[in-house]
Amino acid sequence: MAKIEIKTDALNYECDEAFKALRTNLQFCGDDKKVIVFTSCTPDEGKSTVVHYLAMSLANTGKHVLLIDADLRKSVMAGNYRIPETLKGLSHFLSGQAPLEDVLCNTDIDTLNVILAGPMPPNPSELLAGETFHKLLGAARETYDYILIDCPPLGSVIDAAIAAKYSDGAVIVVEAETISYRFVQEIKEQLEKGGCPILGVVLNKVDIRGQKYYYNYYNKYGKYGKKYGYGKYTKYYGDSETKKK
Ligand SMILES: Nc1ncnc2c1ncn2[C@@H]1O[C@H](COP(=O)(O)OP(=O)(O)OP(=O)(O)O)[C@@H](O)[C@H]1O
Ligand SMILES: [Mg+2]
Repeated sequence: MAKIEIKTDALNYECDEAFKALRTNLQFCGDDKKVIVFTSCTPDEGKSTVVHYLAMSLANTGKHVLLIDADLRKSVMAGNYRIPETLKGLSHFLSGQAPLEDVLCNTDIDTLNVILAGPMPPNPSELLAGETFHKLLGAARETYDYILIDCPPLGSVIDAAIAAKYSDGAVIVVEAETISYRFVQEIKEQLEKGGCPILGVVLNKVDIRGQKYYYNYYNKYGKYGKKYGYGKYTKYYGDSETKKK
């Protein structure tokens, strides 16, 4: 099995806290929520970033995590790792061009394995809908505590809804101040129609210097809010909270 080296920027205090909160909320969803799809309404809302840090955060607590880059059309996740040029990816495996052991990678975190997307195939949706992907997830369920699947935005292509059919739940990543409530609602309904429960929403790229979020943040974290309250922040809303909104 190839070993790939994770490249990361150190998280600031508030991001680190946000990922701990996201990790904890996910764990409270129950141990039957193993296979989790991450999608969004539009590109660039931060899915790959969120899923990457969440996978590391879960794995650092000793959970066995498999991170699958299922964005077969425009993968950026490979950029998060130092990888050998010959490494094969999910598209090779799903099209029968490589066995699982050639695409499954170890990382510098013992309990984190990764499958990168590989080159873009001509038929991404068909590959994800196929029995091979279903079987891969079935086998992974036996080995891992969490299988996190990074998908393309559902507002652009159907792939996330296809992957969600084989999953136990979905998390929608929403870029703050950019996406309308109605658009998120549509994506939520589309996922639910396929039978996939929504576990929650990650509100990403929140400018905590903006008054609205700054005061929420400050009230929640007391003195630390003021000291570390800069930059973009990631906040998780569990299902019960999103229903209230
Ligand atoms: N909380 C954040 N604060 C600041 N920048 C962020 C944050 N989250 C993500 N980004 C940046 O936004 C850009 C898009 O992020 P990312 O690639 O994770 O989005 P994505 O939703 O996976 O995009 P795509 O739909 O193309 O797959 C990247 O440059 C990333 O570094
Ligand atoms: Mg992405």
